[in-house]
Amino acid sequence: MTPPIPSQSLPGLPDMVERCRVALQGEPTPEEAVERLVPILRDLIAAGGEPDDFDCSDAGYTRHLIHEQQDPPFSLYTMVWRPGQWTPVHDHGAWGIVGVLEGELHEESFCPASACGDASPGLRCHARVTLSPGSVVGFTAPPDLVHRSGSPEQGKRTVSLHLYGAEMGSFHVYDCETGERTPHDAEQISHV
Ligand SMILES: [Fe+2]
Repeated sequence: MTPPIPSQSLPGLPDMVERCRVALQGEPTPEEAVERLVPILRDLIAAGGEPDDFDCSDAGYTRHLIHEQQDPPFSLYTMVWRPGQWTPVHDHGAWGIVGVLEGELHEESFCPASACGDASPGLRCHARVTLSPGSVVGFTAPPDLVHRSGSPEQGKRTVSLHLYGAEMGSFHVYDCETGERTPHDAEQISHV
């Protein structure tokens, strides 16, 4: 287990971590976990302050680990996006909750093209939302959410918090044309 990374810049963090530990006792379902933890992440954002690390890169969005533990399993990251930066299409194999601190964040969900009546083997975007500062939304798995996240082409940076029901050092990415799903080391695309 990676030890917690102290952050003195988010005053709500110690309370948030303890509330998450209590809320995840008893092995809740993914739906129960998200229902319990969305208000906790919302309260962390409402408590103000800033994550310690805002480093960003022209090479792509950046991920910064704030907290990670195994029992019960959850992890919290800051992500920083310059305009027009996107994740690949991916899934996490776990529930997740996204909260926006600064700027706007686009979220696009994907499904098999066959679900849209398309005979091709790939994936198609079937929903898109834009989250504004203070917005907190959750997703569950299984069935896993296949999605990508990104910042608007115009504007300033976007900063978001991402809470997952697992350690998230790696996940799966998709080729939208073929539908192929492959394991991916997070550092290869996140420029941490
Ligand atoms: Fe994601």
